[in-house]
Formats: sequence, C-alpha cells, structure tokens
Amino acid sequence: MNTKGFAIAIMAAGKGTRLKSKRPKVLHEIGGQALLLHVIAAAKTLVPADQIYCIIGHEADRVKATVESTGIRFVLQEEQLGTGHALQMVKAYFALSGEPVPQNLLVLSGDVPLIKPETIASIAQLHLAERAAMTILTAVPKDPNGYGRVLRRTPDGPEVTAIVEQKSLKPDQLSAPEINSGIYCFETSALFSKLDLLSTDNAHREFYLTDVAAMLVADGRRVVAVKAQSVDEVLGANTIAEMMHLDAAMRLETASRLMASGVTIFRPETCIIDAQVTVEPDTIIEPFVQLLGATKIGSDCRIRSYSVIQNSVVADNVTIRNGCILDGAEVSNGAILGPYSHLRPESRIGEGAHIGNFVETKKVTIGKGSKANHLNYLGDAVIGAGTNIGAGAITCNYDGVHKHQTTIGDGVFVGSDSTLVAPVTLASGSYIAAGSCITEDVPEGALALGRSRQTTKPGWVATKKAKQEAKKAVEETQR
Ligand code: UD1
Ligand code: CA
Repeated sequence: MNTKGFAIAIMAAGKGTRLKSKRPKVLHEIGGQALLLHVIAAAKTLVPADQIYCIIGHEADRVKATVESTGIRFVLQEEQLGTGHALQMVKAYFALSGEPVPQNLLVLSGDVPLIKPETIASIAQLHLAERAAMTILTAVPKDPNGYGRVLRRTPDGPEVTAIVEQKSLKPDQLSAPEINSGIYCFETSALFSKLDLLSTDNAHREFYLTDVAAMLVADGRRVVAVKAQSVDEVLGANTIAEMMHLDAAMRLETASRLMASGVTIFRPETCIIDAQVTVEPDTIIEPFVQLLGATKIGSDCRIRSYSVIQNSVVADNVTIRNGCILDGAEVSNGAILGPYSHLRPESRIGEGAHIGNFVETKKVTIGKGSKANHLNYLGDAVIGAGTNIGAGAITCNYDGVHKHQTTIGDGVFVGSDSTLVAPVTLASGSYIAAGSCITEDVPEGALALGRSRQTTKPGWVATKKAKQEAKKAVEETQR
C-alpha cells in the first residue's frame, strides 16, 4: 500500500519489570534477534527509516546502540510514566524539532515482535477507509488475561467505545474476549489533541495511551477495531515464558519455510534456526542442530545432530558429522567435517577436504582434498592441496606475545604428533617424520626429522628384573 503521510512510532522505553531481568525487555532475543529489531524490520518495510521514531528510556544508550544501525530516529522518554506519556514525548519531539508532523501515526509496541508488515499495512488501509481517528489492532486469544480489552459498540460492528486495562475491568467485563494488541493507527492531530488530557488516575498510576480511545469517542470521533489474522502475531512478551513461546513459534515458522523450499528437517521442534539463515534444497538437518546468525548452507548437505553453526557459509554436498562447532567458517563443496570438529573464525576449508575428530582450526586456509583427521590444532596457517596432517600434529602459532604463520605446500605429509613452530614453511612434497619438532623451513621434496634418534637396548628388561630379584633376596636374608 501507499504509506505516504504515515510515520511509525515504536514504544520501547519500558523496563519490563515482569521479566525480572537486568537486560531491557526490548533487547531480549527471540529467533536470535532482539525483540525491538524484529519490530523495526517490519516497520522499515512500510516507511523509510527516517520516518520511524523509536521511544527509548530505560537503558536508552544500550537500546540505542543495539538498533542504531537501522537508521531510525530516537525519542527520549527519560521517565517512563506510561504508554500515553511515551506518545507525549513524540508530540514534544515534533514541536521541538520542527520536523513535519505526519498526517497519520502508526504506533507499534517494542514487545510485540511477531507483527507482520502486511498486518500493519492492513490497519493503515482500514484506518483511511473508515475515516477513523484511531484504529486498533485486536485479537481473541485463548487466554485474554493480562491484556487490555477492547469494547465494541455492537458485537459485529467495527466501532469501539473504549479500551479497558486488565486491572480496571469491572466484574462483568472480566470475560471480554477481545484484546488490545498495543498496535494502533492514529490521525496524528486527533491523538496529539488528547495526550495532554490524560491522567494517572488508574491502577498503575500511569498515563495510558489506551484512554485516548474513549476520549475520542466522547468527541464523536470514529474509533474502530480490526482483528489480526493470527493471534500469535500480536502476542506480547511480558515474561520469559511468553518470550520463549514466541521464540518457538518464530523458529517453527522458519523451519516450516525451509521445509517448504525443499529442506528436510527431522524433528524441527528440536532445532534452533535463526530467521536470517538460508538453506538450499535437498539438505538434510538432523535433530538438535543449531543454525545461527548469518549462516548459509548449500544444497545436498547433511548436518548431523548436535552441530552448532554460526555465521558460517557452507557450500554444497558437505557432510557435517555429529557435534561440530562452526563460527565464522567457510566450507567448500564436498568437504567432510567431524565428528567433533571446532572451526573458529576465518577457517576456510577447501573442496573435498576432511577435518576430523577433535580438530580445532582458526584463521586457516586448507586446500582441496587435504586431510586433518585426528586431534589437530591448526591456527594462522595456509595449507595447500592434497596434504595430509597426521594425528596429533599441531601448529605452534603463539610465542606468548605474537602470532606467527605456518605455510604448508601441496602434497605434504606431516607425520603424527609433529609440532610445527611458526613462523615456518614446509614446501610442497616435503615429508615430516612423526614426532618431529620442526623449527626450520623444509625445502621441496625433503624429509625432515626433528627428534632424537631411538636407542634400543636388547635384553634390558630381563637384566633389570634379575637385578631387582637379587636385591630382594639379600633384603629377605637380612630380616
Ligand atoms: C499495553 C496496553 C494493553 C495491551 C498490551 C498489549 C497500555 C496502557 N496498555 O499493556 O492495553 O493489551 O500493551 O501488549 O498501553 N513503554 C514505553 N514507555 C512507558 C511504558 C511503556 O515506551 O512509559 C513501552 C514498553 O517498552 C512496551 C510497550 O510500551 O514496549 C507496552 O508497555 P507495557 O508496559 O508492556 O504495556 P502492557 O502492560 O503490556
Ligand atoms: Ca506488554
């Protein structure tokens, strides 16, 4: 729809007392992202960022720092005296800044994060069609307890007479089923004309934005309600339990979207998949997998149980066996990881390479078809193609002060339990004997042995045993 003449205010200044948490409510996360960021994302699909006014107050700096990059504007509500007071601050902001007052103001709540852009657009549309002064988005959930209730003039008509907060419900209103979502569209001048008339004469001693409804009705203005398509979309997050309910709903939606596009997810309710994650068709995800942040997974991959993959890019045909942890890694086509590989930031695993059990990598590039299958640490290294890193071999990249680079060419064989003391270069085709401590560069095709030569003493065990027994015999005769 055309949202010209509309601005959006997002109320996000509250503390969220019911959460019993140090973190401001709107920074709690669902689907891997702060509540407020979900609301801002929805708002940005309807109006430009500079037409979005976010009301902040409790821990304002922290909230601002988290969402600043979205380019929206901020309105400070230093003391949080209620939702009506929050909008008073918006009115004052326009008066002070001289920015043009938008004709219509959509008001969203920072703690109602599943709201869809289509739904916000539909209330804006209805608001214009109904020539309303205020349009309220509502729902009829299974349990309306805790929400403000919207009272209609007639059961089937759109007109509203008032919004009554939970604590102010009269006994005969307690069963009123239709809740106020906290999402509204206002004719801005009508809203602004009533804000200064609000009082705190109520159960919470707060300025209620919801009181504006009855005030407008008293003036003969039209206040209408529209039910949201889905109840889940307008559920608030006032407690951790409510938040986790929304988190589950959001992740299930993400999993459903992926499954609809051809991804197989076994037991999707056990997987934690962030909203921005992409997975290509024919990839199979086993139970208890986490795909987080900006992760992208290609097609025909298999991701086995208990793997946690964050901000990583995985190409096609990759097998990630059980229990791998990837963070900021890039994995090329056909690679095989795990079980229990730990790929830390800037790990780049080449085509068809194998990274195996208990191998940790960091800032490393591993070439096509190379293998590090057992118990390695590979950090600050470039490893060529077709190289084999034996069991237990490690790069010693840190001298206690600085990090140093290890360079390993193509087709190198690094024997088991070798320690490669960086900076060091093993040229292509070189061969490192098992158990070597390598401190000097190894030229192409050379064999390097960096360990003391083995000494073997034939018959040593029998001789030692005979000596011990003789000693014992002497001791016994002396007793
Ligand atoms: C509010 C509504 C209630 C509705 C419910 C829907 C009022 C009086 N009540 O109640 O009818 O059913 O939302 O979820 O509006 N905020 C500020 N400044 C303040 C106080 C709150 O910015 O001074 C922000 C909060 O951060 C939050 C939003 O406004 O994002 C709603 O506040 P909250 O205290 O959660 O209101 P509810 O009790 O849920
Ligand atoms: Ca709330």
